[in-house]
Amino acid sequence: MHKGIAIYPGSFDPPTNGHLDLIARGAKIFEELVVAILRNSEKSPMFSVAERLAMLQELTADLKNVRIDTFDGLMVEYAKSLEATCILRGIRAISDYEYELQMALMNRKLEPTLETVFMMPADKYSYVSSRLVREVAQAGGPVKGLVPEVVEQKLREKLDPAYKLRDARMIEVLSQRDSEKREKKRKKKS
Ligand code: PNS
Repeated sequence: MHKGIAIYPGSFDPPTNGHLDLIARGAKIFEELVVAILRNSEKSPMFSVAERLAMLQELTADLKNVRIDTFDGLMVEYAKSLEATCILRGIRAISDYEYELQMALMNRKLEPTLETVFMMPADKYSYVSSRLVREVAQAGGPVKGLVPEVVEQKLREKLDPAYKLRDARMIEVLSQRDSEKREKKRKKKS
């Protein structure tokens, strides 16, 4: 096990099974792993930072050496503020390599003491990305098996504004039925 703190930075919009796979692998080799959500992303996100934080906290609750945080500005500055020694990033396919190499070398230029460590998620997730998950979900396609169930549910809610309304209406109907039953019983007794 590598002593010290490692950071796994990203957008996580939304977290996928590939992210979770990498977090579990990272947690096995680093003493402490901080999953860090970028706050000031230029892209307009589907999920707010608070929503992503809550999802990741729930999904990693059983990993005791993993915590979730958010950061702004330069990642290396954030890493320094935590006294982290490593940056963890996932590489799925050769197409990821160019961008990741560029980022790793830029980060090394900015902070030579910080090492970037690459890990591969399970091959069954090699084609899974947050962007494609958003695209498929937005077009009404299935994302089962690509994201954890809580994320699947959140995507459903996010993309179906009527969902919460229907849910609330269902609760209303059920509690109405419940109180009618109780009223009948009370009348029978008296
Ligand atoms: O999940 P993503 O979108 O691929 O993550 C990219 C991320 C957040 C790791 C990267 O954009 C980042 O570190 N941004 C913070 C700003 C910064 O430090 N930029 C210089 C990186 S070379």
